[in-house]
Amino acid sequence: STYNFINVTQKGKVALIQFNRPKAMNALCDGLIKELNQVTQEIDGNPEYGSIVITGNEKAFAAGADIKEMQDKSFPQVQNIQMLASWENLTNIKKPIIAAVNGYALGGGFELAMMCDIIYAGENAKFGLPETTLGTIPGCGGTQRLIRAVGKSKAMEITLTGEFIDAQTALNYGLVSKVVPVSNLVDETLKVAEKIASFSKPVAALIKDTINEAENIGLREGVKYERKAFYSTFATQDRKEGMSAFVEKRKPSWTDN
Ligand code: HXC
Repeated sequence: STYNFINVTQKGKVALIQFNRPKAMNALCDGLIKELNQVTQEIDGNPEYGSIVITGNEKAFAAGADIKEMQDKSFPQVQNIQMLASWENLTNIKKPIIAAVNGYALGGGFELAMMCDIIYAGENAKFGLPETTLGTIPGCGGTQRLIRAVGKSKAMEITLTGEFIDAQTALNYGLVSKVVPVSNLVDETLKVAEKIASFSKPVAALIKDTINEAENIGLREGVKYERKAFYSTFATQDRKEGMSAFVEKRKPSWTDN
């Protein structure tokens, strides 16, 4: 791997990205975020890939932004460098992204997981926004995405207390789609990612974009947005192929056109 803070592996049509700062609980330093942005952008443009899995190690997905890097910064500095703004780049990736969370997903680590399209948790996963314990608040969309994922009372509870929730609680809250034994998590996640990657890429991108848009706009505009996206699938070869294959009782063969 040509990266310092992540490992990237091709698994069939899936790109597996692993955070690789084990001694720092995968704290998300500037260098790591730069590498993540660079590689996700490359994968998005590479037709060999249909989906992305992001994971950490068995102890930590990521324990947040790098506190040691932030410690001495001043208000004018963080404003001037637009600290954390580039983290949002992940939300511009068109291919579906699944976060596979074992261990700690805290602060910025949790926020990054919430930018992904699906979250699966290992049985030992712990999610939290402990920024208040450091005298600060979430800065990568944590407050905004958590309330949309779990509702106001739970979002307030988690963020105001800084306490962690475990995998089962996260499942009950609807924050994650399933809980898997720690050692199976990455394989289970790769299976789903491979399935997603087996379909038409432009269609998957439309589904991802349309569902994510629901968090930005109201129902009436959302339904309109969806319908336009739906109509646009009629401009694709893959829509013709999918429906023809059904009628002809054969397997479709996607061309991503
Ligand atoms: C820098 C970190 C770190 C972090 C852990 N480490 N988290 N370094 N930034 N976010 C380092 C520790 O300093 C330590 O380094 C090594 O990783 C191992 O961590 P320990 O604390 O010794 O491990 P353990 O006792 O097992 O506890 C694990 C832990 C704890 C519960 C995850 O490390 C922890 O509470 N981390 C901080 C979590 C946090 O507050 N995250 C939010 C960050 S703020 P040494 O050198 O001592 O071995 C944030 C804001 C984002 O994300 C956006 C808004 C600003």
